[in-house]
Amino acid sequence: MKLAVIGGASTYTPELIDGFARLRATLPIGELVLVDPAAERLALVGGLARRIFARQGHPGTITTTADLDAGVEGADAVLIQLRVGGQAARERDETWPLECGCVGQETTGVGGLAKALRTVPLVLEIAERVRRANPDAWIIDFTNPVGIVTRALLNEGHRAVGLCNVAIHLQRTFAGLLDVAPERVHLDHVGLNHLTWERAVRLDGPGGTDLLPALLAEHGPRIAERLHLPPALLERLGVVPSYYLRYYYSHDEVVAEQRAKPSRAAEVAAIERELLDLYADPALDVKPGLLSRRGGAFYSEAAVALAASLLGGADKGAGDVQVVNTRNNGTLPFLPADAVIEVPARVDATGAAPLPVAPLDPLYAGLIAHVTAYEDLALQAALHGGRDRVFRALLAHPLIGQTARADALTDALLAHNREHLAWA
Ligand code: G6P
Ligand code: MN
Repeated sequence: MKLAVIGGASTYTPELIDGFARLRATLPIGELVLVDPAAERLALVGGLARRIFARQGHPGTITTTADLDAGVEGADAVLIQLRVGGQAARERDETWPLECGCVGQETTGVGGLAKALRTVPLVLEIAERVRRANPDAWIIDFTNPVGIVTRALLNEGHRAVGLCNVAIHLQRTFAGLLDVAPERVHLDHVGLNHLTWERAVRLDGPGGTDLLPALLAEHGPRIAERLHLPPALLERLGVVPSYYLRYYYSHDEVVAEQRAKPSRAAEVAAIERELLDLYADPALDVKPGLLSRRGGAFYSEAAVALAASLLGGADKGAGDVQVVNTRNNGTLPFLPADAVIEVPARVDATGAAPLPVAPLDPLYAGLIAHVTAYEDLALQAALHGGRDRVFRALLAHPLIGQTARADALTDALLAHNREHLAWA
């Protein structure tokens, strides 16, 4: 089995490699190619990746290349985890929106739109080249904003599934609190990427007893604290929102906080410098502890499980249930069929099929519908460019919505992103 990772020089990659090494019985990789144009970084990350495989006795080979077409040649699955413009572009997304009183975030609000505009054309070009190299290859998209990028890929007919670690992270958190194996925990997880709620936590599949009320009664404040959400909110709603809901439910508070401290991108850039120093040490052959200060916990577990099911792993005949980003196709009846939603889905060699979802409280359905409409307009702007399309996406966004603000943010977005937008 051959896998390629596009954006392979990411400082996150050792997390993935560690998972590939530990979980090799689930996903027997023969050949892994890390593809990235950043040669120096790729050499450092590739070196550590090989040492991690060697230490854990993984028989697979790891190679590195800047040549995308050679890297994906014959790959069964291609993971895309790139960031156009690096942390510098992210830093801008997280700062200039604050001047207009809007949250500065890499995937939520106007920063997320800027990222979508920079990213969608490149991911589509890569996907096209993957398809040319191997029409049967699966694309696993980690590239943010995952909902919009996955929708772009599926609209072009690519064999793609979008993935995020929010659900698996919560699954592991709840399993820890319940003291059960994580695989036993089934989440009633619903919404869009980075806009989800856990409505139930069941043991042993979708028919199991809901343990969420008991979890909230016993550990509510602890869960809320981990998610940076007010404990009273979880209690009042009786659900667990993802921590990205904080940018909606506490928008103005977050803006005030962000104005008073360095951006997450600046923090991450500092962590990355330290990580790259560590990776350069030829004696290091494990994932360093410092990596846990990034947001990617358990993303390797999610990737291994998804790739194993898509590639028809030995014991996966009937498919298993994983939370992924895939076509709505009527699952949430109030959304267009081609919208991309994040829900539990049965995954097998034919792809991901959402499980039925119980009717949604308007409290959640309203925001989901609103953001889905924004994502549609954001995708139109990313595909076709033009100031007016950017403005329409911003006017439709529930965190923006006013013409004067949408106009000011449109001008700022274009001014800060010209170098990355072919049409601007
Ligand atoms: C989580 C999210 C990712 C996001 C990351 C940011 O893993 O699911 O989509 O990219 O956090 O983490 P960072 O360490 O870059 O702030
Ligand atoms: Mn994510």
